[in-house]
Amino acid sequence: MNVHQVLSSWLLNSQQEKSPHNRPFVTLSYAQSLDGSIARSDRKPLILSGEESMRITHQLRSLHDGILVGIGTVLTDDPQLTVRHWQGENPQPIILDSRCRIPMAARLCHRTEKNCWVLTTCSDMKSFDGVEIYQMQANEEGRVCLKHALEFLYERGIKRLMVEGGAQIITSFLQAGLVDALVLTICPRFIGGYRAVQSLHMDYVSNLESVQSARLNDDLLIWGSLRSQKV
Ligand SMILES: NC(=O)c1ccc[n+]([C@@H]2O[C@H](COP(=O)([O-])OP(=O)(O)OC[C@H]3O[C@@H](n4cnc5c(N)ncnc54)[C@H](OP(=O)(O)O)[C@@H]3O)[C@@H](O)[C@H]2O)c1
Repeated sequence: MNVHQVLSSWLLNSQQEKSPHNRPFVTLSYAQSLDGSIARSDRKPLILSGEESMRITHQLRSLHDGILVGIGTVLTDDPQLTVRHWQGENPQPIILDSRCRIPMAARLCHRTEKNCWVLTTCSDMKSFDGVEIYQMQANEEGRVCLKHALEFLYERGIKRLMVEGGAQIITSFLQAGLVDALVLTICPRFIGGYRAVQSLHMDYVSNLESVQSARLNDDLLIWGSLRSQKV
């Protein structure tokens, strides 16, 4: 079996066997440098991973009902979040955007087959062409409450959710203990830039279990299930 087959069969099994009952199964997936950077320090877009790793990312997207990023990533990268380098259906694009900063020109607002879902805490924003806006509860920082957002997505049919970043979103999901699986691409470079994981204030550690890995040309792919343990 090649890496595409091994990874997809592991993920499909995990999604079936470890599916939570009131929220989606969450796969966290992103690419980082050797020093844990996901972007340059000024957060300008940076292509880190190679072509084969990119194909893995697109394959992973095809194995999820929804794909979620933060508004920071939309503002810097203007991503499409499609499955264009793999076969399969595009997952539902979802943005966490408490203050409704999404620009109408964003590529995610111009997808023909699926309206983008924007989860916000604003009460006075209305959906517009290409975008459906949903009001969520706020957390103590005034941002979208992840627990509420995941329950909402689950009710709307998103049973398998891929979270792609950026750093504040990755940190929030880890902090809340809401990650079930991790698929991490490590690119053999030092960037000394914007780190994927910021300070975590947790009274437990998150361990990667049943760890598997594969070389994708120069990149290293690591994946496994995430389990939290009290310290
Ligand atoms: N290498 C990779 O795989 C990869 C993947 C994705 C992104 N990136 C990079 O990551 C950088 C962007 O990351 P970022 O940290 O600036 O932005 P981000 O994580 O994409 O988005 C953060 C924003 O999301 C909003 N948000 C709403 N609810 C939230 C919650 N519960 N927790 C956290 N944030 C919440 C906040 O803005 P409001 O308060 O206004 O809602 C927050 O500022 C870019 O440089 C991009 O290129 C790299």
